[in-house]
Amino acid sequence: MIVAVTGIILILFVIGHLLGNLQIFLGPEWINGYAQHLRDLGPLLWIIRGALLVVVILHIYFTIQLVIENRRARPDHYKRKDFVKATLASRSMAISGLIVLAFIIFHLLHFSFRTTDPRFAQLAHDPLGHDDVYSMMVLGFSNPLVSGFYILALFLLALHLSHGASSFFQSLGLNDQKLAPRLASAGRIFAWLLFFGYSSIPAAVLIGWVKLRTHS
Ligand code: HEM
Repeated sequence: MIVAVTGIILILFVIGHLLGNLQIFLGPEWINGYAQHLRDLGPLLWIIRGALLVVVILHIYFTIQLVIENRRARPDHYKRKDFVKATLASRSMAISGLIVLAFIIFHLLHFSFRTTDPRFAQLAHDPLGHDDVYSMMVLGFSNPLVSGFYILALFLLALHLSHGASSFFQSLGLNDQKLAPRLASAGRIFAWLLFFGYSSIPAAVLIGWVKLRTHS
């Protein structure tokens, strides 16, 4: 139950974060203005950040508890693993979760603390006096290794979410024969939409659709 509820909170964050980030396609004024609005929340932003951190920790802690309980329930390992019904997504929940966690740590160092790229510290404010988040994202994603790592991590996030979606309804006790598989498919489609939405940003920078703008 806690894994499901914390999972849904994290999904809501990921949707909101995507909608915020997609504003890069509308131009620097939009994305920089959006980042400024978030900063203007002041102490409320710190409360949201703190709450998000607690939610992530609870999600991981209770997932590990679940795995331990499941192992205890079946102490003998299977002799042969045929994975008749298990999908790739369900078998890779732990590894995809761990890589997503490594990604989030890298991502915070990259774009929030800005410690991985010395160019970010030298960025001037945009003409409206806002932090130039637009140029930071373009500079960051023009490195194919960085973009490649993001896309790989986003792929694993989608894999993780696509299984998480079907587990979610089961955890909440929704086992309706007709509705449950439909909701699970909707969850999978949604996870892959998130993947394409997020990946479109590094991809657009790499192919030169979104590029640095000179301030006039
Ligand atoms: C292409 C994909 C992504 C882009 C372009 C992106 C962009 C950004 C940027 C620019 C910031 C810094 C905002 C600022 O300081 O003004 C940020 C912060 C953050 N991102 Fe992302 N992000 C992406 C994917 C993700 C994903 C998939 C997750 C979670 C699974 C995530 C979680 C976070 C978190 C937790 C923060 C810190 C928020 C805060 O400081 O309040 N991001 N992201």
